Amino acid sequence: MRVQLLAGQYVALLVPWFGADWKKLMIRKCLFPAAGYGTRFLPATKAMPKEMLPIVDKPLIQYAVEEAYSAGLQHMAMVTGRGKRALEDHFDTSYELEQQIRGTAKERALDSTRQLIDTCSFAYTRQVEMKGLGHAILSGRPLIGDEAFAVVLADDLCLNPDGDPVLAQMVALYKQYRCSIVAIQEVPREDTRKYGVIAGEQIHEGIYRVDTMVEKPSPEDAPSNLAIIGRYILTPDIFDLIADTPPGTGGEIQVTDALMRQAQAGCVLAYKFKGLRFDCGSVEGFVEATNFCFKQR
Ligand code: G1P
Repeated sequence: MRVQLLAGQYVALLVPWFGADWKKLMIRKCLFPAAGYGTRFLPATKAMPKEMLPIVDKPLIQYAVEEAYSAGLQHMAMVTGRGKRALEDHFDTSYELEQQIRGTAKERALDSTRQLIDTCSFAYTRQVEMKGLGHAILSGRPLIGDEAFAVVLADDLCLNPDGDPVLAQMVALYKQYRCSIVAIQEVPREDTRKYGVIAGEQIHEGIYRVDTMVEKPSPEDAPSNLAIIGRYILTPDIFDLIADTPPGTGGEIQVTDALMRQAQAGCVLAYKFKGLRFDCGSVEGFVEATNFCFKQR
């Protein structure tokens, strides 16, 4: 018997195929863990999210969202917590303010924010307990679903005045390798206890296939001085791995530990990015970033 398919049925047959493949090819979503308290900046962060601290006149979270946007990502997923409402308000229209500055010299001051609001989607969920970066990422699972995604830690400000932003470099690499990728940079040995540290075989200039990954090791125990900085591309199997990861360093659920298991089971890459990184979670890094951005203007 000949089975006659209607045009719509052909489409229905094709969509799951294209849909599944397309999800593998593209990175569309970026997760921003933003629930932390920012105690290093008290009292400034008593009633204001640390991600709203401005570098010159733009909050850290906007630099982070702009970096994701310029890497081609349009769906912003934020994991927030109590006292973080200002993040949602920042990426929303403020009619009164826009009305107020219309026709004045400040009219263009909101353009960069406006463009993000008009072209991106913003979704929020709350991390109810502070149980570490791995736990924060897992809390974002309902906003991500079953597709590869980026993670940006807004207090690591990355700038590359001479070329592609760091996340764009990593998305290009993902298109080639299709596995989880962490950004790394060399740090002084005595600083390894501030970071996740990797070791592995260099398969290309600046690209390592990870075989070891340790969260905040002491300089004596560190497998190298290649430190993870706050840019990740993660394949969605990471969620089940995190869910199955017991608390590690500091009693927290560490994404580093879940990534280590992903590396053992398959492949994780570490990428020495091109550009600058400022640790805006520390006062020194914050001031350096401010000076740098001010001079750039
Ligand atoms: C987190 C990660 C760590 C990474 C760092 C980069 O640590 O757990 O592996 O090196 O971000 O900034 P945190 O700074 O949140 O303690």
